[in-house]
Amino acid sequence: MRKKIVAGNWKMNCTLPEGKKLASEVINMVQDEVNNEVDVVLIPPFIHLTGIQNLIGSTKNIFLGAQNCHQNQSGAFTGEVSAAMLVSCGASHVILGHSERREYFGETDELLAEKVSFVLDNQLTPIFCCGEKLEVREAGDHEELVGTQVDKALFGLSEEQIKKVVIAYEPVWAIGTGKTASAEQAQEMHAFIRQQIAKKYSQQTADSISILYGGSVKPENAKEIFSQPDVDGGLIGGASLKSRDFTNIVKAFD
Ligand code: PGA
Repeated sequence: MRKKIVAGNWKMNCTLPEGKKLASEVINMVQDEVNNEVDVVLIPPFIHLTGIQNLIGSTKNIFLGAQNCHQNQSGAFTGEVSAAMLVSCGASHVILGHSERREYFGETDELLAEKVSFVLDNQLTPIFCCGEKLEVREAGDHEELVGTQVDKALFGLSEEQIKKVVIAYEPVWAIGTGKTASAEQAQEMHAFIRQQIAKKYSQQTADSISILYGGSVKPENAKEIFSQPDVDGGLIGGASLKSRDFTNIVKAFD
């Protein structure tokens, strides 16, 4: 019913030759070995988008994504990249609100609301990230915080619009730390997010939205996390830089 998605966020890694090698390996392995209907999204740095799209071509179930996008169509915004530019390079997805963007680049829920609505108008699928820091989890306020992030950035959308959003729950304390949320913790938060969507919109809409888990997903833990009823895939950082590991994570759905 819901799309299964495994997205590889390369972050600020790989030169162009390294990125091409990584993407070629992933494309070949996924084509040769994967027996499931998972959408795979490769998310390189902006500057490699065209080079990677040339390799993906029209390969079934493999898509191109970007790591961020500006909230204006065009103009005097030195160093920024627009949604139309991403589309023209072949991108279909864009990560918005990654915790690193929130932490190091000051992205707020209000700005993210603008960005989400803007990329939807440009026919891109936003992968909207939310998640709490360790101190919030320890204080027991994680549901409240994530509920607020989702509310502020997404709940201004119409029901038709929100159906096109992919959500990634990424507890900040699990990103790049080797510390994964337990399958139960992931399930609990995914179910909570889905319940919030059901309350605001409808159960049918909530049931149609893919919610990915992110934070130290590896081949060793992917199967258990992905087997949770409300976990529809993963947003993978570190392990997406190794073609074998990333493909094995995609295969966790087999
Ligand atoms: P990680 O990153 O898999 O390296 O923890 C996940 C992410 O930041 O999307």
